[in-house]
Amino acid sequence: MYYPEELVEEVRSKNDIVEVVSGYVKLQRKGNNHWGCCPFHNEKTPSFSVNGPKQMYHCFGCGVSGNVYTFVMKYENYSFPEAVRFLAGRAGVQLPELEYTDEMRRKESKRARLLEVNKAAAKFFYYQLRTPRGTLGYQYLQKRQLSDETMHKFGLGYAGKNGEDLVRYLREKGFEDELIKESGLASFSEKRGLVSPFWNRVMFPIQDGNHRVIGFGGRVMGDGEPKYLNSPETPIFDKRRNLYGLNFARTARSGNIILCEGYMDVIAMHQAGFHQAVASLGTAFTLEQAGLLRRYTENVLLAYDSDGAGVKAALRGIGILREAGLTGRVINMKPYKDPDEFMKACGREAFQERIDQAENSFFFEIRILEGQYDMRDPEQKTRFHREIARKLCDFTEDVERENYLQAVADKYFIGAENLRRLVVSYASRTGLARPVERPKPGTRQKNSPQESARRSQRLLVTWITDEPAIYGKIRQYISPEDFTEEMYRKVAGRLFEQLEQGQFRPADIISMFEDEEEQKQAAEIFNTSLPKLQTGQEREKALHDILMAVKKNRYEYDTANMGTDMGALNRVIEGKRALEELAKTHISL
Ligand code: CTP
Ligand code: MN
Repeated sequence: MYYPEELVEEVRSKNDIVEVVSGYVKLQRKGNNHWGCCPFHNEKTPSFSVNGPKQMYHCFGCGVSGNVYTFVMKYENYSFPEAVRFLAGRAGVQLPELEYTDEMRRKESKRARLLEVNKAAAKFFYYQLRTPRGTLGYQYLQKRQLSDETMHKFGLGYAGKNGEDLVRYLREKGFEDELIKESGLASFSEKRGLVSPFWNRVMFPIQDGNHRVIGFGGRVMGDGEPKYLNSPETPIFDKRRNLYGLNFARTARSGNIILCEGYMDVIAMHQAGFHQAVASLGTAFTLEQAGLLRRYTENVLLAYDSDGAGVKAALRGIGILREAGLTGRVINMKPYKDPDEFMKACGREAFQERIDQAENSFFFEIRILEGQYDMRDPEQKTRFHREIARKLCDFTEDVERENYLQAVADKYFIGAENLRRLVVSYASRTGLARPVERPKPGTRQKNSPQESARRSQRLLVTWITDEPAIYGKIRQYISPEDFTEEMYRKVAGRLFEQLEQGQFRPADIISMFEDEEEQKQAAEIFNTSLPKLQTGQEREKALHDILMAVKKNRYEYDTANMGTDMGALNRVIEGKRALEELAKTHISL
């Protein structure tokens, strides 16, 4: 963060959220809350509430929430430092000289410098494309039917004729060789000194959710190897945790996200008006990326290539989406290879139809499976049915499994009764799909272990923020280190600190996070309603279960990551002891 935390907090506390929001939205008071129409989605009846005592807002319609910083960031499209400056100005708080903070920033933050050098490079490429020297690149992109507007929106550029000009430019702008090297924009060679691997390519800047350039993909114009050259991973470029196009898709509000394979696909989709398209970054789709998508939607549409590799990637993607608790559907691109080609050939209405007809991921998997068996051969046909039964066992919820069983039986003309018998026999042989465990009060059953670990950590912080008084009852059993999810660990760290001092300022906790996405997640913690538990006994049991789950997760995490580190071994032993003790302890509320 560029401004000291105390200052950030001072500025926040001097800007009453009700007053600030009133400057944008007509609010009406009801009890502790002020209500108005949400400025972040279309609505006619007010579901946007601003809470004075908590200094937070929350929309019951679209789910946005946050503090006064998040509000102006979202509304005015400010970065965090911009929001600090804006609100400081509003409240008459004196900020340190800008020159001075710039200087501090330079020293303090490597990340900030890497962002700067990437931004400078993006400007260089952007400019090159629009000069006579960039004609080749410009013509190539035109040939790909991209409009000037699209090229501008995605900041497309051209890397120049050689690898030296970029380096010269960056040096002139005051970037040190060491930094340029670390950004992956150039590397050192004995013969030629510092040169960029990016030359004679059209350049795709890769942006994070806040439109900051974190890396590049460069494409050869025409055939040539490699087709794309991508920036290496750097402290700001984590390919597993970013998605191309997400900076636009996150505000598309289209009810779904379309996951494509390539940069060009994303761009073609956006040009056609599908602003919800994203793609992974030259690497396979990851669970982290699925987690990212989950913040915006539950429905992900796969628009992968229609060739064999694309189908394989789609099958893999479906598994990952499922693990993240998302519903995946598959868009049929045939007879075209990818969304880019489809769009060129058929246009947006036809694509919208394909979206509407997108296939449920389970049926997609079964259909692909079907292709591997010869249905005229009874032996193979039986194997196919067994395989279906096996897949049905993946549904742990009875009702869902039964619904799919009926549907797939209808579709493939299998007797539902026979198929059910196959399922039961498979399940009893392997111990799968046993009678589903009853969800415990307060903890809902979720698919993957990671997911349920996340969930219990989240439930615990949420519960404490909802009811700070319970902190006193459990403080001896819990510490921020029990949270393996970084976000919850940070929140718990500050939250527990505040509660130890007898204070509770949720809005302050949110501004600990620099990134708007993280702020949003942090804000969600304070606005999630917990399952309603009736009796005191139920509440005690639920709290105990959640605490146990959090502790157990930490213990398992440490056990798995112990290696040869003695400190870790101690933590594991300590963790086991704490677990055993907690198991025997009754916490009364
Ligand atoms: N990719 C890569 N390196 C390569 C080839 C592909 O990083 N040598 C990644 C890129 O992110 C690319 C994606 O894989 O966008 C999909 O590859 P492909 O379908 O070949 O590229 P498109 O984006 O469709 O590009 P084009 O339409 O220009 O062929
Ligand atoms: Mn393509």
